[in-house]
Amino acid sequence: MIRFDENTKVFRIDTSKTTYVLGINENQQVQSLYWGARLADGDHFAAAKAMPGHSSFDLPVTTTPHEYVGWGGGLYVEPDLKITFPDGNRDLALKYVSHKINGDELDILMKDISLEVYVTLQYKADGETGIIRRSAEIENRTNEQFTIEQAFSATWNLPRGTDYRLRYLSGRWGAEWNVQQQPVQPGKTVLESRRGTTGHQNNPWFAIDREGSNDSEHGSVWFGALGWSGSWEITVEQDTLQQVRISGGPNSFDFGYRLQKGEHFQTPYFYGGYSSEGIGGASRLLHRFEIDSILPHAPHPALRPVLYNSWEATEFNVDEAGQMALAEKAASIGVERFVMDDGWFGQRKDDHAGLGDWYVNPQKFPHGLKPLIDKVHSLGMDFGLWVEPEMVNPDSDLYRKHLDWVLNFSGRPRTEARNQLVLNLARPDVREYVFNVLDKLLNENDIAFLKWDYNRNWSEPGWPAVAPEDEKKVYVDFIRNYYSILAELREKHPKIEIESCSGGGGRVDLGVLRLTDEVWTSDNTDAFDRLLIQNGFTYAYTPGVMMAWVTDSPTWVNHRTLSLEYRFLSSMQGSLGIGANLNKWTPEDFDTAKKMVAQYKGIRETVQRGSLYRLITPENNSEQSVTESVSRDGHQAVVFAFLHSSTELYPFPRLYLRGLDAKAVYRIDAMDSRLAPDTPAEASGAYWMEHGVDVELRGDFQAAAFTLERKN
Ligand code: GLA
Repeated sequence: MIRFDENTKVFRIDTSKTTYVLGINENQQVQSLYWGARLADGDHFAAAKAMPGHSSFDLPVTTTPHEYVGWGGGLYVEPDLKITFPDGNRDLALKYVSHKINGDELDILMKDISLEVYVTLQYKADGETGIIRRSAEIENRTNEQFTIEQAFSATWNLPRGTDYRLRYLSGRWGAEWNVQQQPVQPGKTVLESRRGTTGHQNNPWFAIDREGSNDSEHGSVWFGALGWSGSWEITVEQDTLQQVRISGGPNSFDFGYRLQKGEHFQTPYFYGGYSSEGIGGASRLLHRFEIDSILPHAPHPALRPVLYNSWEATEFNVDEAGQMALAEKAASIGVERFVMDDGWFGQRKDDHAGLGDWYVNPQKFPHGLKPLIDKVHSLGMDFGLWVEPEMVNPDSDLYRKHLDWVLNFSGRPRTEARNQLVLNLARPDVREYVFNVLDKLLNENDIAFLKWDYNRNWSEPGWPAVAPEDEKKVYVDFIRNYYSILAELREKHPKIEIESCSGGGGRVDLGVLRLTDEVWTSDNTDAFDRLLIQNGFTYAYTPGVMMAWVTDSPTWVNHRTLSLEYRFLSSMQGSLGIGANLNKWTPEDFDTAKKMVAQYKGIRETVQRGSLYRLITPENNSEQSVTESVSRDGHQAVVFAFLHSSTELYPFPRLYLRGLDAKAVYRIDAMDSRLAPDTPAEASGAYWMEHGVDVELRGDFQAAAFTLERKN
C-alpha cells in the first residue's frame, strides 16, 4: 500500500513485511527516510529535512540522502543523472513537481530548477516479497538536444549505521558465482561490467547485512539486482557522514546518450528488497519474486524439462546419424528435450568459421533438420537448437558481404576473440537480419527451445555509420534491440522457450530473465566445482532457471573422477540436464541414470519452485555442502548432502532441517541408503529440525539425498 501525507509530504510504501519511506524536504528534493522491516501503521514520520552539511567542504547536497540526484551544485557523491547541455552547462538540480499514486505504483515527477528537463522516479512495490522495482524516465522538453553522460536507475539509502557488510558475486569463465564479502567502509566500491554485456566477472546483484549477523537465517539484509544485460554499474558508497548509499544503472564509463528535443530515456529496472531472515531469507525472496513476477509466463512459468545437450559429447561433430543415435539413448533414460548444440550450420567445423550463416549444413544434414526433429519427436521428446545470433566469424558469407555490420572504429583493428566479432545489433539492418534468421528457423522447423549463446565480450565498440555524437548510443540501443528481438520472437512463437548462455553464466540478470526461461550456469560441469558455482548462483537467482548437466567422468575440467550418482545429485539441485557422451555409457550407467531421472521428476517442483535453505555452504573450502528445498505447499522437503573428503574419523555433521511445520509428521525416504540406521521412519517437523538427521558419508567425493513427505 502506498500513502502520501499532505502535511508532512511523506510517502510511505508498505508491503507485508517491509516499509519504505521517502519525503519531499524543504528544498523540494526527494529524500529517503526509512527502508527496512514493516513499521506499525500508526508510526509517524516528520517531514524530511535536508542534512546540514559538514563545514564548507561538504555541502547539504552531498550529505542529504537523495532518492535520485542530478550532478550539480557541489555534489561529490555518486550522481544518478549527469547531463551536458549544448551551451556547455553541466549543472542539474532536480526538484519535486508532482506525484501520482496508482495502486502499488508511485511516480514522482521532478524538474530542473530552470531547464525543461523532467525526470519521473517510478516505484512499483510487490506486496508479497516487499521487493521494490525502481526506474527513472528522463525527458527532454527543452528546445535543443542534450547529452546524458550518466543515467542511473535509482539510489537506495540504508539506515544510518557503520557495521555493514557487502556481499557480491565475482567470477570468470569456468568459475562464475563466487560469493565475496567485505565490510562497507568509507569510500566507494564499484561493481561493474564495461564489456557491453552482463559478464562473468561481476553480476549485477548485491546484498548488505549488519556485520556480525553471520547466521544465514537471521538478521537484516538489504539486497538489490539490476535488470540490465549491457555494461552496468552498482556503486556502494559510505559518505563522509557514514551514510551508505547504493546507486546503479547502465555503466557511466564511456557512456553518452544524445537525447533530442521531445525524446525520453527510460533507465533499466533496479530492484531492491529487505529481509529480516538473513541472507537465506533474502535469496528466497528473490527466488520467489523471479518466479512470480520476472520470468516469462510468471507467476506460472513451466517447470524445466529434463534435457539432453550434445555439446560435450560431440562438440562441432554433429550429423544426422550421430544425433539420432544420441537421441535414442537419451530418450531411454527419461529425457524430455533433446538439444543439438553448436556445429549444425554454415561451414561450421570448428570455431573458425560459420557464425552468421544460419543455414543448415548440407553435408551434415543432407535432408535438413526435419528427419532429426521427427525422430526426436517420435521418441517422445521435444527439440532444441543452439544459436549464437549476435556474432560473426570473419570466415563467413555474412561478414564477406557486410564488413560494416560489426562493432568497430573506422580504420582501427577489429580484435577477434574465439575467432569472432560482435555484430552491431544497435543497427536497424542487423537487428532485422538477426530477427529474420531466427524467425525463419522457427517457421521452418518444429523447434521448442533455443539455447542462445554469446561467446565473447566487446572490443572497439564503435558505430561509424551514425554521427560521432551518437556512437555511444550503442551501449543502450544494442541491448534494447536484443530484448526486442527476444520479445518479438516470443510473441510470434508463443511456445518457444529460450536459454540465455554466454560461454556459461556470462549473461544472467533480471533483464534477460524477463525474456528467457532458463540460463546456462557455467561451462564448468565438474560436479564438485559445481557445488560452489551453484551455491553462489542461488544467492541471486532461483534454482528453477539454473541448468545443471551430468557430464562425463573424469571431467574435462580438472580430470576429477566422480561417481555417476554424485554427478546426478549435484545436478539435481537445479534444473537437470544430461551432457555426457551416452555412446560411452555401460548398461549399469543407463540403469542408474534412468532411476535418478525418475527420482528427479518426483522432486523437481520442490527444487525448482520451493524455498532453498543452505544448511552448509561450500564457501571457504568447506569439506561439506548441504542444501534443503521445501516445496511451496510444505508437503515435501528434499536434502542433498556432499562430502569432499573425510578427515580424522569425524562423522558427517548432523543436519538440522529448516522450514518445516514443527507439529506436522513427515516420513523420511532415503533416495540412496545413506541414512543412519537408527533414523526413525516418521517423526515431527520439530524432530527433524531440532534433533536433526545423520547421514553416513565417508571417504572422498561422497553424496547422499533424502526426502521428507508430510503426512498430515
Ligand atoms: C559456449 C557454451 C557451451 C557450448 C559452446 C558451443 O561455450 O557455453 O555450452 O554451447 O559455446 O560452441
